[in-house]
Amino acid sequence: MNINLCKIINLPKIEDPRGNLTFIEEENHVPFKVRRVYWIYDVPGGEIRGGHAFIEQQEMIVALSGSFDVIVDDGKNKKSFSLNRSYYGLYLPNGLWRHMENFSTNSVAMVLSCTFYNKHDYIREYKDYLTWLKK
Ligand code: TYD
Repeated sequence: MNINLCKIINLPKIEDPRGNLTFIEEENHVPFKVRRVYWIYDVPGGEIRGGHAFIEQQEMIVALSGSFDVIVDDGKNKKSFSLNRSYYGLYLPNGLWRHMENFSTNSVAMVLSCTFYNKHDYIREYKDYLTWLKK
């Protein structure tokens, strides 16, 4: 799995004195069909979310409000992405270990996924991830 495929996509930002607007179109701003959207919010200070890998799930993560960091790991290299603008979308291919940390107060992490929820798509132990990579 290539960590270099992870990238921040600058989403359209329609600036307006009444308030700004950003949008995402499937297969346009995200390179997949969006099957599911979920969001993480009310995260207590210091908490970490999402320490696992997905076998199939490709995703885009957006900090709708506030900020947090996404740490991505391919078993060899790690990269950290700071999401702190509502118009940044972090694209993550499947097969990478990732977690989210450093959530600011009232931050909201929205995740667009190419899959429906499937608990069998998760690799929840890092050692299992390393074994899976060798397959
Ligand atoms: P999980 O993905 O483990 O959260 P995190 O990645 O932040 O650690 O999900 C937490 C719980 O929510 C878990 O019991 C599965 C459930 N869940 C769903 O039912 N549907 C979903 O779409 C998601 C993302 C999670």
